[in-house]
Amino acid sequence: MLRTHNNGELRLSDVGKTVTLIGWVAKKRNLGALVFVDLRDRYGLTQIIFDESFDAALREVKNEYILSVTGTVVERSSKNPKMPTGEIEIEAKEFTVVNKADVPPIIVADETDASEEVRMQYRYLDLRRSVLQKNMMTRAKIVKATHEFFDAHDFIEIETPYLNKSTPEGARDFLVPSRVHEGSFYALPQSPQLFKQLLMVSGFERYYQIARCFRDEDLRADRQPEFTQIDVEMSFLDTDQVLEIGEGLVAKIMKDVKGIDLELPLRRLTWLEAMERYGIDKPDTRFGLELVNLNETVKDTEFAVFKNVLEANGYIKGINVKGQAAAYSRKKIDKLTDLAKKHHAKGLAWLKVNDNGVQGPIGKFFQDEKLERLLKAMDGEPGDLLLFVSDTNYMDACGSLAALRNHLGKELNLYDKDTYDFLWITKFPMFEYDEEEGRYYAMHHPFTRPLPSDLDKIDTDPANCLADAYDIVLNGFELGGGSQRIYEQELQERAFKALGFTPERIESQFGWFVDAFKYGAPPHAGFALGLDRFAMLLCGTDSLRDVIAFPKNTSASCPMSKAPTPVDNAQLKELGIEVIAND
Ligand code: AMO
Ligand code: AMP
Repeated sequence: MLRTHNNGELRLSDVGKTVTLIGWVAKKRNLGALVFVDLRDRYGLTQIIFDESFDAALREVKNEYILSVTGTVVERSSKNPKMPTGEIEIEAKEFTVVNKADVPPIIVADETDASEEVRMQYRYLDLRRSVLQKNMMTRAKIVKATHEFFDAHDFIEIETPYLNKSTPEGARDFLVPSRVHEGSFYALPQSPQLFKQLLMVSGFERYYQIARCFRDEDLRADRQPEFTQIDVEMSFLDTDQVLEIGEGLVAKIMKDVKGIDLELPLRRLTWLEAMERYGIDKPDTRFGLELVNLNETVKDTEFAVFKNVLEANGYIKGINVKGQAAAYSRKKIDKLTDLAKKHHAKGLAWLKVNDNGVQGPIGKFFQDEKLERLLKAMDGEPGDLLLFVSDTNYMDACGSLAALRNHLGKELNLYDKDTYDFLWITKFPMFEYDEEEGRYYAMHHPFTRPLPSDLDKIDTDPANCLADAYDIVLNGFELGGGSQRIYEQELQERAFKALGFTPERIESQFGWFVDAFKYGAPPHAGFALGLDRFAMLLCGTDSLRDVIAFPKNTSASCPMSKAPTPVDNAQLKELGIEVIAND
């Protein structure tokens, strides 16, 4: 037997027992004639105490050696309340070195000064650190709760292929060259979307899969090129029933992983309400600082910027940063302006409210009755800082203030980090217009169904067509999203046409999929939750890399294996591929 106990389990009640432990040397300290060693495994740390008789044998032992120790459990004279095993220690009777270790390139402890690149290069050592061990265990608990939930609700797990046909729309595909079909390529799935819909056509009714997805997009802290979705599809359920499944899953995960009882049903905001109040479709609703629409309030203003924007049917919006007028110097406001501009604002106007009126570059435009109106609309009181953005583009007016709002929420500590505020965003627009390309794109994906009231607008009035689509948002992150789907072949073709597809292109790209709708496709709907994002938020970290065992860095490489790497010419030749430098 390699061990009688693990390193996290011995307590005062075990005093007197003879035990054998095995683990990594986390720390070794000499205290006079005695040597103290903290032995580590997945379950924790246990302190071992060696007397002088081990002196010579212990000399070679260093951090990260694996030792097997047999000894007696004794009560510690100086207890460590921070350690679960801190009331006892093991008096060693014998030990063996099970394996040696070179000096590790990173410190294996919660606090490590190694750069993230070095940590990722030696990821197997990084993963020994208890923070990452805990994160991986939290992630596994989410997966376990997910399987239990779907099992209890009569869903079946079905795997879908990794080697697929490349389809346009969405992000860029990762391509895999075919050897058998020289010059042809598979694409890795961006999600199992089409296959899960086909499984509904096949009659499975309730599908789920913990599915790996691949998207060749620019990376951010909350995006990885390969990530995992909790992917779900259901037949014959209306949107309320689908959301009930979604929030039931989330509630079970919160209960099992965090011990938190979520109040159901979750709050719902329409996309438009979210944009109007928070300026963004994934609002952090843990704090107020809501946007105020000021078009009406400032309609007779002399301030040229606002006046011009109003004449061009634009938008004037503001936020009231309560009680912060004194705290924001000119320099700090300039920083806010830079942030707003980074998010496409043309500028940031501001006013500080004081006992006599307002102060700031646009103060002279807000006197007497006009000032009164403004203060009423924004609930402005002496001491407040008012910020304004005006723009002819709705998304830019909203987006820049939303960025300021998120920044200020964090800077001013407006929320409790330990709250989890979930909500649904519903009724998204079907399409968004791309000015540069002069065409509509699907806001969710081309298989999304319009709201029952908007079915006809799909091609007659795409700009105002609302989708029966929903996102679940947690603390300012898009945790997941989904929709009712189009199930009629004719409506699907109209949706493709609205997106600018010619019948030939529909046939060559999606014909295999649309054909299935000829043979009796049921009404169906679904959603996908980002497992990595959920784990990230429940682990209280702000990087997906902290919850993925072997993640990619920001340039989509693996610092450990160095993937991606060039391959042998022979391998390329077999695939009929030649690499040409792209400049
Ligand atoms: P969507 O594209 O919104 O929907 O993806 C669903 C969820 O997956 C997560 N996610 C990501 N996580 C990490 N890195 C990424 N690069 C990344 N991209 C997405 C997000 C997101 O909310 N097939 C549809 C779902 C459906 O309609 O059923 C889909 O993939 O948390
Ligand atoms: P100007 O008249 O250009 O000197 O601008 C006066 C103030 O209005 C400055 O504080 C600018 O930052 C601000 N400003 C300029 N453009 C906008 C805009 N589109 N929205 C809000 N404020 C703006």
